[in-house]
Amino acid sequence: MIGRHPGSLLKELDLDKKQFLELVGLAAELKLARREGTERPRLTGKNIALVFEKNSTRTRCAFEVAAHDQGAHVSYLGPEGSHLGREESVRDTARVLGRMYDGIEFRGFRQDSVEELADYAGVPVWNGLTESWHPTQMLADILTMHELHDGPIEEISFCFLGDGHNNVARSLLITGALLGMDVRIAAPVELQPPADVVAQAHRLAETSGARILVTDDAERAVRGAEFVYTDVWVSMGEPAEQWRRRISLLLPYRVTAELMEATGCRSMFLHCLPSLHDRRTELGAELHDQFGLDGIEVTNEVFESERSVVFDQAENRMHTIKAVLVAALAG
Ligand code: CP
Ligand code: NVA
Repeated sequence: MIGRHPGSLLKELDLDKKQFLELVGLAAELKLARREGTERPRLTGKNIALVFEKNSTRTRCAFEVAAHDQGAHVSYLGPEGSHLGREESVRDTARVLGRMYDGIEFRGFRQDSVEELADYAGVPVWNGLTESWHPTQMLADILTMHELHDGPIEEISFCFLGDGHNNVARSLLITGALLGMDVRIAAPVELQPPADVVAQAHRLAETSGARILVTDDAERAVRGAEFVYTDVWVSMGEPAEQWRRRISLLLPYRVTAELMEATGCRSMFLHCLPSLHDRRTELGAELHDQFGLDGIEVTNEVFESERSVVFDQAENRMHTIKAVLVAALAG
């Protein structure tokens, strides 16, 4: 990986296109080997710290299973229970963990924290999501699209709708631009990706040949898109008071059967998860009672439809994270 820290993955642009696709290719090989029972542990004796300032299901489990499959050990440090943040700084924590572990996963509030961790740890650090980027999610998303698209990556078109300002939307824009894909982001102006991220995507597109569209016109954005992608409308760490404003702004970007129809093709549905697609969660039930919506960013009809590939995508978190660990740590 080409960033300042060998073996680390702090953001998508720590990788060039070739390296990105090599990791996706390695993940596909590891996935097949696991299925066929021929996986060979290449991380025996390695120790990996998993540091989470926020909750997680997929990212944590993907790191744990990937590490175990490869013969490594993990320690989980959750939002409660370590000194990080309150009694001990990021740089001190980094220097302690770096003496004991071969690599560190970090999910935190700020991108600065994961960068500082990597500056001080002296071992590879992998960003498991910050407010800015979600790079390990991108590897899984590209593997998923690649598996489902019959042809080169550059031919793939996808459209993200919803909170275009959030980590997943930014990462998708930059990843699509890096890989030369057809990327569309549909969001109200107030929730579009930051101008510097859009400018960076356009710069990448000049060499990669990517087609970039950032618009507030949802129907235009989805036309011809092979994949329709959404994420929660209020991300972890954002105040719950945001829900009212977000719902009023984002309803036209909700993924419904009509919107899937507006693609004009047999598009597939992606979501990084977790998703508020029904009333089976506490939050989903509360939002239903408050705003009368059954399912928020996507309807249950689309989420449960045969066009939805969200659980393939979730499984691919594990195979792609395993590729990151093997690429960084295997001898
Ligand atoms: N998609 C994702 O990162 O899920 P978790 O929050 O469960 O890790
Ligand atoms: N945008 C979401 C992604 C969760 C995987 C969040 O940051 O909460």
